[in-house]
Amino acid sequence: MRRTLKAAILGATGLVGIEYVRMLSQHPYIKPAYLAGKGSVGKAYSEVVRWQTVGQVPKEVADMPVLPTDVNEIKKAGVDIVFSPLPQGAAGPVEEEFAKAGFPVISNSPDHRFDPDVPLMIPEVNGHTASLIDEQKKRRDWSGFIVTTPLCTAQGIAIPLAPIYRDFRVDSVFITTMQSLSGEGYPGVASLDVVDNIKVLGDAYDAKTVKEVTRILSEVKRNVPGTMDELTLSATTHRIATIHGHYEVMYVTFKEDVKVEKVKETLANFKGEPQDMKLPTAPSRPILITELDNRPQPYFDRWAGDVPGMSVVVGRLKQVNNRTVRLVSLIHNTVRGAAGGGILVAEYLIEKGYIPK
Ligand code: COA
Ligand code: MG
Repeated sequence: MRRTLKAAILGATGLVGIEYVRMLSQHPYIKPAYLAGKGSVGKAYSEVVRWQTVGQVPKEVADMPVLPTDVNEIKKAGVDIVFSPLPQGAAGPVEEEFAKAGFPVISNSPDHRFDPDVPLMIPEVNGHTASLIDEQKKRRDWSGFIVTTPLCTAQGIAIPLAPIYRDFRVDSVFITTMQSLSGEGYPGVASLDVVDNIKVLGDAYDAKTVKEVTRILSEVKRNVPGTMDELTLSATTHRIATIHGHYEVMYVTFKEDVKVEKVKETLANFKGEPQDMKLPTAPSRPILITELDNRPQPYFDRWAGDVPGMSVVVGRLKQVNNRTVRLVSLIHNTVRGAAGGGILVAEYLIEKGYIPK
């Protein structure tokens, strides 16, 4: 029998916080033990949370009070892992404080994503970057550490591109995204920006998407020669009036002729260490292929897979010309793209010995 690990969820009332609470309430060995917040401290979780996901507030957490985001309090509660989906800017210093105090911190926030000694991890793709943890602890003299997960948008792109980039010589990828509202939290996007409209996210968002995908792909162990310098990546990003699920269209051009069937095979067979390790939050297939020519769609496909919301659904695969293939990917942004991705990282780090079992 393995022990049960106690998790603190920072921002537990937020749109990613609730997915942590939902998924950990069903988890075999990590339980939601400390629900941290700010404005709601002292109130019962079920009274203050806006449960904008499937099901109801789990019984085991409904009466738990929201507690302060305080290192000493969290230490006293005997917490083993800290999950941080705090907003940009707020997250950075809080996460450092926790890592310094000895906690493993799994962050969905952007603040530490480009620290060279902090992994930016999708366990199936670049789990081996966990080795940066040793360097991070030594360099910063921390007894804990920070591991980040990529932007939800970048994960929806990087998960299918990783096996393609691993097996083929890719010349360029042109991406267009249609992203859901939950990515900006509550109340988030003004209705007048997205009803009867498409909100253009602009150059900064486009650039950060490309920057994150670039870092992740550069950490892929490839079966073909070549470097990232030979690859052109470009993204045009948008927010639309869907609630959950980012829909991302990609045109992938190769350096030689490639048949769409080969690409499909690579995607369908993709598995990583989490599948071999049979981690509880690892779907048996990280990528599910749909053959239907009107799928994926956010409403119908975001919960796909044997671990709901953890598989990316890829469809619309088409040979555009001898060297170019089109595909569309759909990712549940607050599950695989945030909380579920964070839980998978925790399971992986536990199995690898970075978090004591
Ligand atoms: N310290 C402690 N708590 C903080 C905080 C801080 N500096 N900043 C915010 N919080 C608290 C809020 O006060 C709230 O708690 P409360 O109910 O006790 O007041 C809780 O965190 C949740 O608030 P918020 O983060 O605003 O929720 P949201 O649903 O509006 O937004 C996110 C959720 C995830 C979109 C947002 O936190 C975010 O952008 N995070 C970064 C990256 C991320 O995960 N993006 C999602 C990709 S799909
Ligand atoms: Mg908010």
